[in-house]
Amino acid sequence: METNVPQRAAADPHRPCFHFLPPANWLNDPNGLIQWNGEYHLFYQYNPHGPFHGTIHWGHAVSADLVHWRHLPIALAPDPGTADEDGCWSGVAIDDDGVPTLIYSGNRNGAQRACLATSADGLLTWQKDAGNPVIAEPPPDMHLVAYRDHSVWREDGVWYQLIGAGIESQGGTALLYRSADLREWEYLHPLLMGDVHRYTPIWTGSMWECPDFFALDGRHVLSISVWDNDHLHYSAAMVGSYRDQRLVPEVEHKLDYGDRYFYAPQSFSDAEGRRIMFGWVQEGRSAEAQLACGWSGVMSLPRVLTLGPDGRVGMQPAPELAALRAEHTHTPAIDIPAGQPVVVADVSGDTLELVVELVPARAGRCGIVVRRSSDGAEQTLITYDAALHQLIVDRTHASLDVATDRNLHVAPLTLRSDEPLRLHIFLDRSVLEVFANERISITSRIYPTRADSVGVALLAEHGEARLNVLDAWQMRA
Ligand code: FRU
Repeated sequence: METNVPQRAAADPHRPCFHFLPPANWLNDPNGLIQWNGEYHLFYQYNPHGPFHGTIHWGHAVSADLVHWRHLPIALAPDPGTADEDGCWSGVAIDDDGVPTLIYSGNRNGAQRACLATSADGLLTWQKDAGNPVIAEPPPDMHLVAYRDHSVWREDGVWYQLIGAGIESQGGTALLYRSADLREWEYLHPLLMGDVHRYTPIWTGSMWECPDFFALDGRHVLSISVWDNDHLHYSAAMVGSYRDQRLVPEVEHKLDYGDRYFYAPQSFSDAEGRRIMFGWVQEGRSAEAQLACGWSGVMSLPRVLTLGPDGRVGMQPAPELAALRAEHTHTPAIDIPAGQPVVVADVSGDTLELVVELVPARAGRCGIVVRRSSDGAEQTLITYDAALHQLIVDRTHASLDVATDRNLHVAPLTLRSDEPLRLHIFLDRSVLEVFANERISITSRIYPTRADSVGVALLAEHGEARLNVLDAWQMRA
């Protein structure tokens, strides 16, 4: 159970139960992910003064298993008269030879600068460096659109840092620095330069927020969040080889096809050597609705990253999530006739984990329906279209509330002829995370209005489909 959740937040039927979020108010990016003395630390962009972006602090929580989190006191707060007086924006945690160290973006007068803080009591309280900001100005004459957010690593005994940026009329970039002591930094060059005028394989906008650079299964990955003209678009991965302190990308793709609903992700590697990523799942309802319920923003489930045979980064829900499974229902194989949804009578609810395997008709469409009202007036469809080679989360009828976001999410997915559709779905009230065939994910938000919108159904179109198996679990809070 969560502690101290204000009544109006607790009463909100859209508030998730098993995703991480603060008791109230605003959350955005995951920050400072690190495993320390066996415990996982999750920091996050947090406004203690309301469910809107402003006076950004670092919230803090700790977990032994990535699933059960304990709230800790605020880690960083803006200090008047200093480089972070208008906010402690996103950043990372690193182990500086035994000293827990944060590097983050201090926000002052609309500009962000790299700041540093250390902890002497095991990550609980933080002392800001007297030399903040540790990088006083961006490189001169670069005509930057913006300059903030950090990725820091050690390589051959030297610290390296990326700062997210964009160069006017050129594109997003991540600027590379190096340092011997984390306090004095020398600018080198862009790790990689984007091109705002290039649309394939993906468009990467005019500025890159939250760069995150790491090795994965023999390649290097730069994860970025595509920002353009105050719009948050999606997070993307550039996968390639790292040579002479530059990334040579070979594959570029969206990290999650829910676009802005999986934004500003950050990853870290744990003691088992796994790369684990969290992202910010933002709201799909109005600012007024967020004010009324007293909270905004939720953290994605932890995802384990892998490199696929196609060179793309795949994300799987962390196996630890199985600890949340309660009552289980097993549905054996059945045929699903075309055009008539088959209600799964013994599975319903708004906090569910579903593992489903389906065989679509050749060139047909099939999938599963969640949060379905008894008459189907509200429902969210998760379908695979074998003709279009697409996985689609269709929110057109997700809610009768027309003020909520209800567009489609479409992801490219081509199944081999002998490959069934395998969906792994986490539904947590308004949060929907869909993983398909260990290859792609779609994260989204849905806000059904009716109390009976808890049904689950199977669906086939343009030919009969086959359900191989459906396992469902009710999820614990
Ligand atoms: C991404 C972001 C970061 C920034 C932080 C501020 O969502 O805009 O670029 O550091 O959020 O809260």
